[in-house]
Amino acid sequence: MIKSEKEWFASWFDSPFYHILYKDRDYTEAQHFMDNLTNYLNIPEGGNILDLACGKGRHSIYLNTLGYNVTGIDLSQNSIAHAKQFENDTLHFNVHDMSTPYNAKFDAVFNLFTSFGYFDKEEDNLNTIKAIKTEINQSGFAVIDFMNSEYVIDNLVAEDVKIVDGIAFTQKRRVEDGYIIKDITFTADNKDYSFQERVRGFTLADFEALFNKAGVYLLDIFGNYKLQKFHAKQSERLIMIFK
Ligand SMILES: C[S@@+](CC[C@H](N)C(=O)[O-])C[C@H]1O[C@@H](n2cnc3c(N)ncnc32)[C@H](O)[C@@H]1O
Repeated sequence: MIKSEKEWFASWFDSPFYHILYKDRDYTEAQHFMDNLTNYLNIPEGGNILDLACGKGRHSIYLNTLGYNVTGIDLSQNSIAHAKQFENDTLHFNVHDMSTPYNAKFDAVFNLFTSFGYFDKEEDNLNTIKAIKTEINQSGFAVIDFMNSEYVIDNLVAEDVKIVDGIAFTQKRRVEDGYIIKDITFTADNKDYSFQERVRGFTLADFEALFNKAGVYLLDIFGNYKLQKFHAKQSERLIMIFK
């Protein structure tokens, strides 16, 4: 059984199998979300956006086509190496850990698609919010697009098998000590693999406590990518706008 000794998020997100398992991601929905969000925030033409934990850059690349000056950062060297092929004068990608400040100011900082709550050290969640605070300029906004943990826990499917590119991924889900855990096992090229996703089930109240400690202010909350009202029991997303 192949299991990496690195923190789970450093190995799993850097693995090609992560991208195979989730290759069915809805790009059109992600683009509509970016249209809605940039309109709502009224980001100036040519404005600077930081895409924090950008993965292979799907949001960054689209935001750049809308005319924004975009920087995407991620911990995964493989994802950034892939994204770099799309770079141009107004689109850049770099390997960087989001819990430390990037040392530049932006009109908007986006943390999208549940790219938060992974850290083993609890204080790194707060450090990430503090880092974001240093990355937004005076008139700038920050956005965290997180899962609605309450909805996810209420609708958790204990086990299923997803077949992608001929690989049968067995996914087992549970809640433990405030974390939503997914164990993923599969066989590929005659080798058995085992990975785990472990995300802290932050609620709105947990984020409010973090925001208070970091000295940032929650301005608005939405419950889906159409930017409709957040309902704790029904919304799939918890999208928070702060500064
Ligand atoms: C669920 S994926 C989302 C990626 C991207 N935002 C998207 O929507 O396609 C989470 C991403 O967070 C990145 N990540 C995890 N921990 C990180 C950290 N400490 N600093 C920067 N990126 C991190 C992972 O490498 C992964 O690309």
